Order: sequence, then C-alpha cells, then structure tokens
Amino acid sequence: MEAILLVGGKGSRLRPVTEHTPKPMVPTAGVPFLAHQLTRARAAGVDHVVLATSYLAEVFEPYFGDGASLGLRITYVHETEPLGTGGAIRNAARALTCDPGEPVLIFNGDILTGLDIAALVASHRAAGADVSLHLTRVEDPSAFGLVPTDADGRVLAFTEKPEHPDEIVTDQVNAGCYVFRRAVIDTIPDGRPVSVERETFPGLLASGAHLHGVVDETYWMDLGRPAALVQASADLVRGIVPSPAVPGPAGEYLVLPGAEVAAGAKLSGGTVVGAGARIAADAVVDGSIVLDGARIDQGAQVNASFIGAGAVIGSRTVLDSAVIGDRAEVGADNELVGGARVWCGSVIPDAAIRFSPNC
Ligand code: GDD
Ligand code: MG
Repeated sequence: MEAILLVGGKGSRLRPVTEHTPKPMVPTAGVPFLAHQLTRARAAGVDHVVLATSYLAEVFEPYFGDGASLGLRITYVHETEPLGTGGAIRNAARALTCDPGEPVLIFNGDILTGLDIAALVASHRAAGADVSLHLTRVEDPSAFGLVPTDADGRVLAFTEKPEHPDEIVTDQVNAGCYVFRRAVIDTIPDGRPVSVERETFPGLLASGAHLHGVVDETYWMDLGRPAALVQASADLVRGIVPSPAVPGPAGEYLVLPGAEVAAGAKLSGGTVVGAGARIAADAVVDGSIVLDGARIDQGAQVNASFIGAGAVIGSRTVLDSAVIGDRAEVGADNELVGGARVWCGSVIPDAAIRFSPNC
C-alpha cells in the first residue's frame, strides 16, 4: 500500500524548536518524530511513502535515504512554494504508482497515535467510501477540524477551526489520517495552494461524495505545541504508546549512547537524554527532552521541558514547561516556568529571571 506524509508545515507554534529543524525531524524519544510514523505505517502494510516536503525540505533525505533501512521505499516531493495540505497531496500524488481505484493513506506529519491503521483501511473498503477519516474526541475541538457524522459514520460536515461557539456541534475532530480513493486525489486542483480541510472536504461533501468517519479513541496527540511534543516523547519512552523506532526498552528514562549521567542525578517520567549530553550530580530531570550535547548542571531541576542541542542549564536553575533553544545558555539560579521560551543561542545571566514566558 502507498502513503503520502505531509511534512511541509513551518511548525511556527513550536519555535524555537523548529527554527532550524522541521517539526517532523525534531527528536522525540531519541529519533526524529517521523521515524515513529514511518515504522508504524510500515507495520500496517505500507511499502511506499511519498514525503511531501516544503519548509527545510533538504534535511529529510540525508536522514531517511531511500527508506530501505526501514523496509520502505521513500520518494521525496518538494514544493518550492508551500501548496497547503490539499495542494501538497495533489502534488505528491505524481509519485504514486497504484491504480485509480486503490486506497491511498495520507498522514499529517505531526500526529502520534495508536490508531489501528489497517482497520481504518478495512473500514474504508467495507463502506465503499471516497474518503475515510480517522476522528478522535477532544475536550476543546475549536483548534481542530470538526467532523459531525450520522449513525453510520457518514460525514455530515467539515468545519476547520470554527470561529463561533455555535459552530461547535460535536466533539469529534479530524485526527489527521485519511484514506483517499486514488482517483479522488486527482480532483484536487493542481499547481495552486489548496487546503484539504477548508476547500477539498467541504467541496467533496457539497458534490455528494461519500466521506466516512471512523471514531477511534486510542492514544492521540498533535505535536503542534511544545507541551504536547514533550509529553509525546515521554509517552513513547515509557511505552504508553508503543513505537518500534524507540532506540531502547520502555522505561522511566532513555539515555542515548555517549551521554554522561552523574551518579546522584535523577531521571524520571520518560526523560530522554541525547548523545553527548551531560547531566550533573543532584540534577533532577523529569518528563523532559534533553537533546544531544546539552548540559544540565548540579542541582538544576527540569520538569516537562525541552532542552535544545548544546544548550546549558546552570546550577540550581528551575525549569518547568520551558523550551530552551539550541545552544542557549541559562545561567545559575534562574526560574523559568509556565511555557517560558528561550531563543536559540541566547544567554541568560545568573539569577536574572524569575518566570518569563519569552526571553
Ligand atoms: N507539504 C506541505 N505543504 N505540508 C504542509 C503544508 C504545505 O503547504 N501545510 C501544512 N502541512 C503539513 C504540516 O507539516 C502538518 O504535518 C500537516 O500538514 C497539518 O498541518 P498543521 O499546521 O499541523 O495543521 P493543524 O494541526 O493546525 O490542523 C490539522 O491537523 C488537525 C489534527 O491535528 C488539520 O488537519 C485539522 O483539521 C486537524 O484537526
Ligand atoms: Mg498539527
């Protein structure tokens, strides 16, 4: 089976994490996030993946190559100007080889889910649908695509990120995984930006197409924001959502080869420590991502945070839900909490900060 993975977004809500790294390449549980999606797709029977790239497109191929090491064939399709989700699907479809009647899987490149992909395809075939959508239920649907269905799962409407409260008619949202009959992709206009959510799905519904929604409430996380990215990594490390790509056994922490963790340092909550990173004695690191070459000094306390490659966290500094860019240096005795973000390469002197969301 063939799949298209949408990996061209800018990941603006994740900055500074995505300043030099596209969202799907951000290390989560020790490997680029995309590795988890690719191995899960492979396990579900996908053998050819087309990566629809745009932002920082050049970094994907050197890492994944032709896909052979994952048992896949990977084709790279590049958009010089971003074509939006629908335009990207149409553009990437040039590289598909299947027949017009065959189902094609499409994945948003920032979703971690325990969805049974093969079951979604089976349900698509059984329903004889033009397009099938994985749906999940969330507490606040307003940040997603709303997808009400009838009792048989037939999609009644598609409302992307509703702006008025009276548009929120369901808690079922688009979970970012579709099965398209190949021929339906060819109805998307070619060569211009198209949003699959705002244009293609409403247009297909208006023309009487059969869109089939499958509500599946297994683990599901959109990694569009730092807190979700850090949580997803911790859940992968702990095995709460299994992925064959995690480079180690499930447990409270994952320390990659070449990292140095001093005796007396405490790692917990699914923390991952990258190659060449150093964690000093009495440091406490809980539920966090520490990238390659970062340094966490004595007595620092790091909770639910993202520490970029080569960043330094000074002694006794407290981080909670903080995002520290690559090579940033946070001096000793600071306190950054509540989603504080430190841009790549910036320097914060000792004892300079008691909570600041952006520095
Ligand atoms: N190639 C390419 N070109 N990819 C793109 C482009 C583009 O122009 N724009 C976005 N993408 C990719 C992103 O990289 C991401 O993998 C995916 O398309 C979705 O874009 P996001 O920016 O993450 O969208 P979202 O999270 O706000 O909303 C989408 O996902 C929700 C579920 O997480 C929508 O599909 C919603 O309907 C859905 O509920
Ligand atoms: Mg997203």
